[in-house]
Amino acid sequence: SPPALFAPRSNSRGWDLTDPVALAGIEAARAPFRGARWKVGPIVAAEGSGGEVIEAVSPTGSGAVGTVTLASPADVEAALAAARVWDAPVAERAEVLRRASDLYEARFGEIFALLAQEAGKTLPDAVSELREAVDFLRYYAGEAREGAPRGVFACISPWNFPLAIFTGQIAAALAAGNSVIAKPAEETPLIAALAVGLLHEAGVPPEALQLLPGAGDVGAALTSDRRVDGVCFTGSTETAQAIHRAMAEALDPGAPLIAETGGINAMIVDSTALPEQAVRDVVASAFQSAGQRCSACRVLYVQEDVAEPFLTMLQGAMAELAVGDPWELATDVGPVIDAGVRDGFTAYVEAARAEGRLIAQGPVAGAGHLFAPALVRVGGISDVAREVFGPVLHVASFGGGEIDAVVDAINARGFGLTFGLHTRITARAARVTERIEAGNSYVNRNQIGAVVGSQPFGGEGLSGTGPKAGGPDYVARFYGAPRADGAV
Ligand code: NAD
Ligand code: ALA
Repeated sequence: SPPALFAPRSNSRGWDLTDPVALAGIEAARAPFRGARWKVGPIVAAEGSGGEVIEAVSPTGSGAVGTVTLASPADVEAALAAARVWDAPVAERAEVLRRASDLYEARFGEIFALLAQEAGKTLPDAVSELREAVDFLRYYAGEAREGAPRGVFACISPWNFPLAIFTGQIAAALAAGNSVIAKPAEETPLIAALAVGLLHEAGVPPEALQLLPGAGDVGAALTSDRRVDGVCFTGSTETAQAIHRAMAEALDPGAPLIAETGGINAMIVDSTALPEQAVRDVVASAFQSAGQRCSACRVLYVQEDVAEPFLTMLQGAMAELAVGDPWELATDVGPVIDAGVRDGFTAYVEAARAEGRLIAQGPVAGAGHLFAPALVRVGGISDVAREVFGPVLHVASFGGGEIDAVVDAINARGFGLTFGLHTRITARAARVTERIEAGNSYVNRNQIGAVVGSQPFGGEGLSGTGPKAGGPDYVARFYGAPRADGAV
């Protein structure tokens, strides 16, 4: 229908953090929520029961941020029984999603506060996350079409983009008229509940959007229930594989799994690269958001002729990074998500130190789950056994004639999310980006922060099934044919 198809759209303007007036506005809006406590539970369109009540603890070291009533098996059952597709006209669905995007922007103070308190996000990260959530709502509203929704979509999301990815999955499923049962990450249910409240306030019917806070068992209950018609998942590759197995056993054979998963992402810096620019982009790619981005650079390949001065300059830049409280504007690197994760990184880096492979790690002091960015030497990407989801950058070097072999090694590792290249040889950029097997390749810039509508985002191989989020093929996957078993 023309109104939804051709509605103009643009990305969120966001907030200019270099503008003192804008900053003062943010400070005034978020200050009342510092130290606030939120309270959430299952949001189900029928009578449930509520399960265990737990405290949500901040990664910043500031204590509890709220209480969470986890979804019980009875809540899962109630949500599945109450779920109804959203049969409003396309233009109305699109309008409601746009209205929700405006509500998100209007509530920026509470959202920035909660992103800092619950997820440890610095203000620049919180701003880009809110922008991305708003962009998803507006972009997918513009992608809404006439067509049959699949039915009930389980949307299962990670903690590292607790607003943007959580919202993006839901917005796409709703744009196509599905009923969504959302299972947020156990680390970030408060921001999820705030988002669901705003979507309901905008006009999404309660039976079309329900929320089940809880751990993996709640997700597993959904992905093994035949009433679920499709699963949209973002998280680790291992969890996606477990979900795929569960779906194969229990769900209708036509039920799609849309999975965006992890990566062991590489960047190559050759001897023609501009070192100042490359260092800046390595630091952003590896350490922004405390390295807790699926897109983050995990393995840096530097051409051996320039490796020594380049790594010296990189260590100088790392020494300038302020690791600390995400609420403070001077902080570059906030905490990692929890104490167990931090302790795992510590053990990993200590093992590298014992083997003589730790190149650098700065000191760190302060409250919260802080972990100083570290550089660890490896022979190549095949030495990196798993995705280290934090501020640890592996470094390898390569000879002038070896760039094709480096690309082959990256491809052979099996992931394919993001890739970065710094070179001033145009023909090399063309050849490498042609050969690399990665969903998103970036040349002479950082490799994080894909922009909805401009840079559709998603991986291949072990990094995801496609289609790419924030791109023109995404919402189409949420429409479908009637089920093979004839159920409705
Ligand atoms: P995770 O896989 O541990 O959890 C993700 C979600 O799955 C959570 O809500 C969790 O409760 C749920 N879950 C766990 N076990 C389940 C099961 N058996 N059945 C159903 N649901 C289950 O991931 P995480 O630690 O929350 O997030 C970090 C990971 O996410 C990293 O690997 C990162 O690379 C990846 N990620 C990928 C993208 C992308 O777009 N490709 C974006 C962000 C994060
Ligand atoms: N879309 C996010 C990025 O590109 C994950 O960093």
